Amino acid sequence: MRVGLLTGGGDVPGLNAAIRAVVKRGEGEHGHSIVGFRNGWRGVVDGDVMPLTRQHIRNVLPVGGTLLGTARYHPKASDGSLDAVMQTLEAERIEALICIGGDGTLHAASKVAEAGVKIVAIPKTIDNDVWGTDRSIGFDTAVTIATEAIDRVHTTAESHNRVMIVEVMGRHAGWIAVTSAIAGGAEVVLTPEEPFDIDKVIRFLKHRHRAHASFSIVVVAEGAVPAEGTSMSYEAPVGKFGEIVAGAIGERVKAEIEQRTGFDTRVTVLGHVQRGGIPTPEDRILGSRFGVAAIDAITRGESGVMTALRGEDVVLTPLTEIAGKVKHVPASLIQVAQALA
Ligand code: F6P
Repeated sequence: MRVGLLTGGGDVPGLNAAIRAVVKRGEGEHGHSIVGFRNGWRGVVDGDVMPLTRQHIRNVLPVGGTLLGTARYHPKASDGSLDAVMQTLEAERIEALICIGGDGTLHAASKVAEAGVKIVAIPKTIDNDVWGTDRSIGFDTAVTIATEAIDRVHTTAESHNRVMIVEVMGRHAGWIAVTSAIAGGAEVVLTPEEPFDIDKVIRFLKHRHRAHASFSIVVVAEGAVPAEGTSMSYEAPVGKFGEIVAGAIGERVKAEIEQRTGFDTRVTVLGHVQRGGIPTPEDRILGSRFGVAAIDAITRGESGVMTALRGEDVVLTPLTEIAGKVKHVPASLIQVAQALA
C-alpha cells in the first residue's frame, strides 16, 4: 500500500518519533511504501512529496521539530484546495493518509475523510487540548521546559525580592500553566479556564509578602483573561495571522501588580522555547506508540479515526467526535495548584 504522511500546524518535539515509527513499522512489518508530504496540507495541495524510507529516519528520534516541515494551512472546499488535495492523492496513488496535527489539522483531516479518503490521525500539540486523548505529543516536553524555567526564575526572584511572572503557551487551555505551576511550586496560576479577578491576586500577594515571603512566582497562560466585571480591563491583542500576541497578558498583569503593590516585578515570556529542542523520553514514547497504532490501523482498513491515549492504552477514536472541541484542564487539577499556593 502507498501511505501518505504529513505533519501540520505548530511543530512539537516528538513528531520525528511518530514519523519514524510509521516508516519503520509500515515498511518493515507491513511492506508499505511511505510517501511524505512537505509542510503539512500545503504539500498535499501543491503535490510537494518526498520518499520516506528507513534511510530518512536514521537518528531522528532525539531531534525536535519535524523532518517533513509543517505549516499553519488547511485546505477548504470553498477555494478549490480540497479538490487539489484529491488530485494530488490520485496522482501520487496514495491509498491512505496519516495526518499528525492539532485541532486545525485534525478538522481538515475529518473533512478529507468525509470526501472518501482513508485517514488515520495522530494528535500533537504542546497545549494538550485535543479532545478525546489524555495526552498529545509535545506536551510533556513543554511542561518540562516550563518547569525548568520556573525553577530558574525562583532563585533570582528570591535573591531580588521580586514578583516574577512566567508567561507560558496555551491559547484555549491552561494545561502547561497548571502543570508547570504545580511542578515548579508557583504561588499563582492564571488560566483560560478560570477568568481571574486581579483584586484577589493582589490581595493574595500583599498578604503573602506581609506574612512570610519576599518573592512570588505567578504563572500566566497566554490565553488567560480577567473575569468580566472585575477591576482589570484587558482586550487580548491579535497578531497579523490571528495569533495571540506573546507577552501581552504577562505585561498587563505586571503593570497591575506593580502599580497596586509597589513590588518590583519582571516578566519572562517562554514563547517558542517551549516547542523547541530535544523531546523528552515521554514524548518519544508517545510519538512511537501513536505512530505504530496509526500504521497498524491503516493496515487493518480503519479510517476517520485518531489515535488516543486513554489511561495506559492507545485506542482509536472517531475524528468526527473530536473536531472543534477543546479539552480543558479539569477544575480538580487547577484546585491542586491553588491549594499549594
Ligand atoms: O497551538 C500551539 C501553540 O503553541 C499555542 O499555544 C500558541 O499560541 C501558538 O501555538 C503559537 O503559534 P505560532 O508558532 O504560529 O506562533
